[in-house]
Amino acid sequence: MLKEFRISLSLFLLFACGFLYEMTMKPKCFFSCTPAYKDVMRPENILRHNRKIVFLETTDRLEPSPLVSCAVESAARIYPDRSIIFLMKGLDNNSTHFPLNATYSGSSILSAIENVFFSPLNMETLLQETPLFSWYTQVNSSAEKSWTHISSDACRLAFIWRYGGIYMDTDIISIRPIPEGNFLAAQTSKFSSNGVFGFHRHHPFIWDCMENFIEHYNGDIWGNQGPELMTRMLRLSCNLTDFREVKDLQCPNLSFLHPQRFYPISYPEWTRYYEVWDVEPSFNDSYALHLWNYMNQEKKTVIRGSNTLAENLYRKYCPITYKNLIQGKERMDKGGLKSPPSPPYK
Ligand SMILES: *[C@@H]1O[C@H](CO)[C@@H](O)[C@H](O)[C@H]1NC(C)=O
Ligand SMILES: *[C@@H]1O[C@H](CO)[C@@H](O)[C@H](O)[C@H]1NC(C)=O
Ligand SMILES: *[C@@H]1O[C@H](CO)[C@@H](O)[C@H](O)[C@H]1NC(C)=O
Ligand SMILES: *[C@@H]1O[C@H](CO)[C@@H](O)[C@H](O)[C@H]1NC(C)=O
Ligand SMILES: *[C@@H]1O[C@H](CO)[C@@H](O)[C@H](O)[C@H]1NC(C)=O
Ligand SMILES: *[C@@H]1O[C@H](CO)[C@@H](O)[C@H](O)[C@H]1NC(C)=O
Ligand SMILES: *[C@@H]1O[C@H](CO)[C@@H](O)[C@H](O)[C@H]1NC(C)=O
Repeated sequence: MLKEFRISLSLFLLFACGFLYEMTMKPKCFFSCTPAYKDVMRPENILRHNRKIVFLETTDRLEPSPLVSCAVESAARIYPDRSIIFLMKGLDNNSTHFPLNATYSGSSILSAIENVFFSPLNMETLLQETPLFSWYTQVNSSAEKSWTHISSDACRLAFIWRYGGIYMDTDIISIRPIPEGNFLAAQTSKFSSNGVFGFHRHHPFIWDCMENFIEHYNGDIWGNQGPELMTRMLRLSCNLTDFREVKDLQCPNLSFLHPQRFYPISYPEWTRYYEVWDVEPSFNDSYALHLWNYMNQEKKTVIRGSNTLAENLYRKYCPITYKNLIQGKERMDKGGLKSPPSPPYK
């Protein structure tokens, strides 16, 4: 009798633990958790989220590559108390849920992460009431050969002006929180990138950048509305000197962060991310790592078991992406079963 009681008590406890686990680990589903559908955020709700980090997709692509998924997942982990907002041009105003289709994929992995939100990117709406709007209504986008990049350069400025926060390119893996509020990132001494920057809402530097964007607009010069714009605006207010030790430059109203913070491996060396190192760098002076995806014309990818620097970064900083899109993918390629996405973490 006592024994039976003990068995049923153990069974009950086991069940209760399982249930609690499901409740805490999988807020959106019990017992069977296939892709989490997340409501697409309406643009007017973005302001309600504090201390945002934003990623943009200015093509119609909806399915993030493993690198994009890693960038977003790593940011979600490093900034658990911030909202990670992914604006996608391919999501229209009518989409109410994301992912739109039930597949085991980057979009379902990211949807399952609690602090990641998707929202449609509507350029016309975003640029309204900024200096960029008049330019946008006049430019013939189909005549611009780098429209994907130019529209992204414009949207990131307008977003940070309107809402504040940190903008990041989708090939940046976050490894520790950025302690600064208003900052630009140096790619090299005296030269700023626009791949990552952060400002409070309505910061005058960003407004001035948008005015300069339209005054000096030239879509034929690569980077003229991007890194070149940030650099010429920074030069106006800051005495740029060469970096010596790993120390950031303090300029009026913003910090200019040392190249080690995001670009410890500089662009001529970008293939080093896809190589095996004897001793991997510690990156202990870095906040995030830019993988230079636009240099990657040969489409190098992370291959499971290759032990490259990039593979080890994925394993450490975006383990759900690694497990499902790198390990899981090879299992699928070999004809095995697809594994469902791992449960979202808190
Ligand atoms: C999408 O929604 C915004 C408001 O959130 C609106 O201003 C815009 O006109 C809409 N676009 C379309 C194509 O319906
Ligand atoms: C949005 O939905 C409405 C009504 O369902 C439809 O008429 C319209 O074409 C849709 N717009 C887009 C951009 O899909
Ligand atoms: C969903 O995916 C299935 C199979 O991959 C495809 O046949 C179907 O057209 C997709 N539906 C939508 C709405 O994309
Ligand atoms: C925009 O550019 C395209 C490609 O150069 C051209 O065919 C089209 O006529 C232009 N449209 C306008 C309104 O100028
Ligand atoms: C800029 O920095 C250099 C080197 O630190 C210094 O010699 C120069 O006086 C500075 N110029 C201004 C305008 O502050
Ligand atoms: C710094 O910001 C203040 C307002 O926040 C502005 O008045 C001032 O002009 C800015 N300084 C520079 C050098 O941009
Ligand atoms: C970074 O690592 C180097 C050597 O590995 C060490 O000397 C240095 O103190 C570390 N810096 C920080 C900020 O931890």
